[in-house]
Amino acid sequence: MGLKRKDILSIASLSVDEINMILEASEPFKEVSGREIKKVPALRGKTVVNLFFEPSTRTRTSFELAAKRLSADVINFSPSSSSIVKGETLLDTAKNIESMQADIIVLRHSSSGAAETLGRAVRSSVINAGDGWHEHPTQALLDLFTIKEKKGGISGLGVVIVGDLAHSRVARSNIHGLVKMGARVRVVSPPTMVPPFFDQLGVEVYHSFDEALPGMDVIIMLRLQLERQGWALFPSIREYSRLYGLTAERVQLAKPNVLIMHPGPLNRGVEIAPEVADSHGSVILDQVTNGVAVRMGLMYLLSELN
Ligand code: CP
Repeated sequence: MGLKRKDILSIASLSVDEINMILEASEPFKEVSGREIKKVPALRGKTVVNLFFEPSTRTRTSFELAAKRLSADVINFSPSSSSIVKGETLLDTAKNIESMQADIIVLRHSSSGAAETLGRAVRSSVINAGDGWHEHPTQALLDLFTIKEKKGGISGLGVVIVGDLAHSRVARSNIHGLVKMGARVRVVSPPTMVPPFFDQLGVEVYHSFDEALPGMDVIIMLRLQLERQGWALFPSIREYSRLYGLTAERVQLAKPNVLIMHPGPLNRGVEIAPEVADSHGSVILDQVTNGVAVRMGLMYLLSELN
C-alpha cells in the first residue's frame, strides 16, 4: 500500500497511516545523506520544480538537495526574474511548467490555499512548502520525524508550542500532526495572538509560558513574524521577549532532557535566548538535517504514483 494521493497540501488532510508511512519511508534516506556519495537513483528521469514566491533558506535548499540526492532534475524557478513580473498569473505559470513535463511542483506562496488551487489545476504532484498563514506540512513532518528519532515515539509526549500562533503556518501543521499522533499539546501565546478556533483543535491554550512548561517533553518555539504584523499585537518586542522568550531559567521548568525545537529562522534574543538555541537540548540543526531525509521520503512516495 503506497501513498494514494497526488498532492501534499496539509497535515490536516493526512491520515495517521499516511503520516506514519512518510516517516517510515524517510528513515533510509537519512542514511543516504550520511554517505560519502549522497545519491540514489530513485527519481532518475523525474523533474522537480521549486516555485518559491516568498523568501526561504531551509525549505528551498532542502527540497533542492533532496531532489538531487534522489537523482531528479531540479529547476529553481525565481518569480522575480520570470514572466510573473510581466503580469502572468500563478496558474498560467504553473501550467507552462507542467507542459514541460514537471513531475513534482514545490510551491511556497503568501496566499493561504495557493497550493490547493494549483493542485487542482495541474497534473503534476504539488507539495505545499508553506502557504500564507495556513500550513507548512513538510515542516511538521520533519518535526515529527525529529521528535520520534530523539524520544523513541510521539504518542503520550507533552509538547508545548509557543509564540505567534496568529501568523504561524508551522503551528497549525504541527498541531494537526502532533494531535493525530497522540501527543498532549499545549499552546502558549499572548491573548491577542491566539485565533478563536484554536481551542477546537484538541490543544490546551495557555497565556502564561511558565504555567505551561511543567511536564513537557518538547518545546517548539515559533518565530515572531515581524514582517506579517500589520498591527501591534503586543506592547513591545522587549515585553514579548520577557513574557514569551525561552530562557535557560524557563527550560528548567520543563522535564529534564526536554527537546528544544525551532523551525527557523531564529530571532535570537527575541523568542529564544542564544545560549538556549545553542544548548545541548537544542535539536534545531537536527531538524534541518532531517528535513532533507523527510523530503526525500515524501518525493519518493509521490513519484511512485507518477
Ligand atoms: N522553516 C522554514 O520554513 O524556513 P525557511 O523559511 O528558511 O524555508
